[in-house]
Amino acid sequence: MTLTGSAPAKVILFGEHAVVYGFPAIALPLADLRAYAEYQSSDQPLSIMSEHKPPASSDPLAAMARQTLRFLGVGQARGRIQIRSDIPVASGLGSGAAVSAALGRTVARMLGRELANADLNALVYEIEKLHHGTPSGIDNSVVVYEKPVYFVKDRRLDFLDLATPLSLVVADSGDAALTRETVAHVRVLRAKQPERTNAILRQIGGIAECARSQLELGDSRQLGALMTRNHELLRALELSSPALDGLVEAAMSAGAYGAKLSGGGRGGNIIALVDARRSAKVRGALLRAGAARAFTSAIGEKAAKP
Ligand code: MEV
Repeated sequence: MTLTGSAPAKVILFGEHAVVYGFPAIALPLADLRAYAEYQSSDQPLSIMSEHKPPASSDPLAAMARQTLRFLGVGQARGRIQIRSDIPVASGLGSGAAVSAALGRTVARMLGRELANADLNALVYEIEKLHHGTPSGIDNSVVVYEKPVYFVKDRRLDFLDLATPLSLVVADSGDAALTRETVAHVRVLRAKQPERTNAILRQIGGIAECARSQLELGDSRQLGALMTRNHELLRALELSSPALDGLVEAAMSAGAYGAKLSGGGRGGNIIALVDARRSAKVRGALLRAGAARAFTSAIGEKAAKP
């Protein structure tokens, strides 16, 4: 018998880093870019294989399987689960959360069970702590529920209805960066320059709040301007890089409504909001400007069952 669970990648549209300090942020799922966990029955004790990580660093996977089994009241299980993921690691697209969510779903399904999203979300959040130290919880939430989310730490989840689908071009700088390290950088900056740093974080939160209404109205021009402003504020927190700034500029010159880095920063991806008719032009410009990969994602259209 084989069966599969999956979960999508995500982008942070507004508010990364500020969300760690209680300000609002908005994240979107990328339905076409996914992590999968495929189960095959066997009479051996449960093993989890991943093409991305050597066994020595696969602890978060084992921990996710263990805690899901414990949650379901099962001591031991048999079989083999293969993790496959199309999501680049250390690139701000939520690879760790997506892999954990896919794995949790598959562990439950191999036992003939289905996890409620709220339970899976809580389980994945525990594993996010192993990856990131002090995660806000936004990545696991958007990846598990697979819906646009307006997120404030420690508050009830708030899902967003987009007035119109969004066309986003996602472009990879090709530089890996660890969220744990960029989150630590902001913590240090906040300790050294509390007033300035808190003022910037507050402004980022204000942008996310404003963007919420624009998303519900479907005003892409305003949304784009807010994204570019958000990028400037992340730059002021030293979270960008010459490569990310170059990609943002290339997207804007090719006619994007707005562009910003997305996720932890200092590497990983930028996102550009575009008119769907311009997406090929913007993608081409990003590749010419040095992006390692660039693809378009239409957000707000119906997704398949995870
Ligand atoms: C990472 O996708 C988003 C950050 O705000 C960290 C977090 O919210 O846990 C940088």
